Amino acid sequence: MPRVFSGIQPTGNLHLGNYLGAIRNWVLMQQGNECLYCIVDLHAITVRQEPQALSASTREVTACLIAAGIDTRASILFNQSQVAGHAELAWIFNCVARLGWLNRMTQFKEKAGKDRENASVGLYAYPNLMAADILVYRATHVPVGEDQKQHLELARDIAQSFNHQYGVEFFPLVEPVITGPATRVMSLRDGTAKMSKSDASDYSRINMTDSPDAIAQKIRKARTDPHPLPGDPAALAERPEAANLVNIYAALSNSDAAAVLSAFDGAPFSRFKEKLAELATQVIAPMTGEMRRLLADQGYIDAVLRDGAGRARSLAEPILREVHRIVGFVQG
Ligand code: TYM
Repeated sequence: MPRVFSGIQPTGNLHLGNYLGAIRNWVLMQQGNECLYCIVDLHAITVRQEPQALSASTREVTACLIAAGIDTRASILFNQSQVAGHAELAWIFNCVARLGWLNRMTQFKEKAGKDRENASVGLYAYPNLMAADILVYRATHVPVGEDQKQHLELARDIAQSFNHQYGVEFFPLVEPVITGPATRVMSLRDGTAKMSKSDASDYSRINMTDSPDAIAQKIRKARTDPHPLPGDPAALAERPEAANLVNIYAALSNSDAAAVLSAFDGAPFSRFKEKLAELATQVIAPMTGEMRRLLADQGYIDAVLRDGAGRARSLAEPILREVHRIVGFVQG
């Protein structure tokens, strides 16, 4: 059975981009695959986090994933710091990856900004830890949004380089799974910027905890252009804000842009936005309710994470033992 791994950072609000680009596919991939889903708290501290907020956010993301349909008996749901093998293999990968490879990572450049000297070493080595997350389980399939593609290419390079250096065929080549009409959900305020947790404007994103009123208001205020909707997706090429809303509609209704446009051909945005808000609320509101219910029982959330971590450790241990043998570490 193919082994699937993916991760998400516990840094504040989950938003519709996380859901449509990743989480929804995580839920679907539970059919016919062995799945590990990880809340990557070690990645979160590559930038400063308030300890209490980090714990709260880890539990919130766990509740959101369960509410979205992650089955904690079939899949392994856990937080990264509880399985020490991630950090251990990341160190070995720090010694495999080349500086030149990391220098090309666009996410580091974006996140470090102009003050690169002041960025943490962890932020720079971030993709090596990501490769370790996946390969400590020798997972092959990784469902993510478009923005993680470059990191997964690096994970392939690291696997290949390790295998070559030690003359083994040990680590598999990671396959990114980037599917659906919303692999890159854009900001509601700017059709050329990604919807993101770190955007200063809350109007740029729909959070998974937003009320129906907030969802409707954000969609109503979403930036668009003065033209009505076209009948054909090709006509959206130069209209990024319109294309974004159409793709969101397509993803939420399990259809595609062509089908959405044939239903709304010639419609003004006012009508389309009203329908989009209804649809978004229909999908998000039940999850928000379930998430709140789950969060009321912190003991349950922590037990899920503990159980997941135990199962993850059992899968990682024999793989790490083999890595030690390959590298030449004495196991006394
Ligand atoms: P993170 O926490 O930024 O995002 C979690 C997932 O959501 C996707 N995503 C989006 N998809 C579409 N449109 C958007 N606007 C959007 N914003 C976020 C991301 O692509 C991701 O799939 N480095 C990763 C976490 C990670 C990981 C891993 C992923 C750590 N280790 C190993 C896969 C495998 C991250 O920061 O995701």
